[in-house]
Amino acid sequence: MHPSLFVAAFALPLALAAPAPYRLPGNSFRRQLNDTCNLANTQQPSSTLTPPGDNNQLVLIALGQGTQNYTCANETATPASIGAVADLFNASCAVAQKASLGSVAEDANAVGQHFFVDNTTPEFDIIGLGNTQLKKAEAVPAPNAAADVPWLKLDAANTNTAVRSIYRLNTSGGLAPSTCAGQAAGAVVQVAYEAQYWIYISPDAMAARRRRRSLGLPLN
Ligand SMILES: *[C@@H]1O[C@H](CO)[C@@H](O)[C@H](O)[C@H]1NC(C)=O
Ligand SMILES: *[C@@H]1O[C@H](CO)[C@@H](O)[C@H](O)[C@H]1NC(C)=O
Ligand SMILES: *[C@@H]1O[C@H](CO)[C@@H](O)[C@H](O)[C@H]1NC(C)=O
Ligand SMILES: *[C@@H]1O[C@H](CO)[C@@H](O)[C@H](O)[C@H]1NC(C)=O
Ligand SMILES: *[C@@H]1O[C@H](CO)[C@@H](O)[C@H](O)[C@H]1NC(C)=O
Repeated sequence: MHPSLFVAAFALPLALAAPAPYRLPGNSFRRQLNDTCNLANTQQPSSTLTPPGDNNQLVLIALGQGTQNYTCANETATPASIGAVADLFNASCAVAQKASLGSVAEDANAVGQHFFVDNTTPEFDIIGLGNTQLKKAEAVPAPNAAADVPWLKLDAANTNTAVRSIYRLNTSGGLAPSTCAGQAAGAVVQVAYEAQYWIYISPDAMAARRRRRSLGLPLN
């Protein structure tokens, strides 16, 4: 749509006393929005993870880029996971459109951060969705399990936000080194990875939070 139509749509009611109702030509803009970024019809890549609950709604597909961190107690220990740190970029449209995710991170600011509050508790802080702590509910090997960290279903650890589940899918990299040989005692090993995080909310909880916020009430 030409930018001037936006201006017309919003400026007319202010400028004229009784403007003719502005109609989008054939509702084309609305249709275009649906067609380009419709997460409602966007299917998860297939896996044996339990699907999201019926009442949960996909609201964001984030591309995560960061590191999986491991520690080595000593040279003969097995590397132990101490969590991950990643920037989250909005890949909703790119995935809905089946476009390449290659430029998603370059073209935008991060919409959130992923990190761990302890060795087993992931947190996701996302603009508009708040800070959610989760727990690992299920894990399945990635299609290329020798190269990529497993796919996961994470469930919210509490109902402090509207987020209910986050799936880690289409992972790339991030596996621990097979041994600690050559590592100093206590060394942290950072292994680069990427993943898609598919984020599901409870629409009822989101609506309730919006109501509470509009009334100036505490959210929890
Ligand atoms: C298209 O979007 C509109 C408004 O966002 C919504 O009411 C409608 O149900 C959507 N249609 C489809 C087919 O997704
Ligand atoms: C994990 O690695 C990141 C770099 O990606 C670093 O900023 C972070 O401090 C590390 N966390 C721990 C617990 O070592
Ligand atoms: C190395 O670390 C592991 C895991 O903490 C421990 O079980 C083992 O006893 C340690 N070995 C040596 C030689 O210190
Ligand atoms: C992600 O992008 C979509 C489409 O541009 C937008 O509707 C949505 O609000 C964005 N989400 C976040 C968390 O920025
Ligand atoms: C995710 O990975 C699967 C293969 O496991 C691939 O078929 C699919 O196209 C990928 N989807 C996205 C959105 O990247």
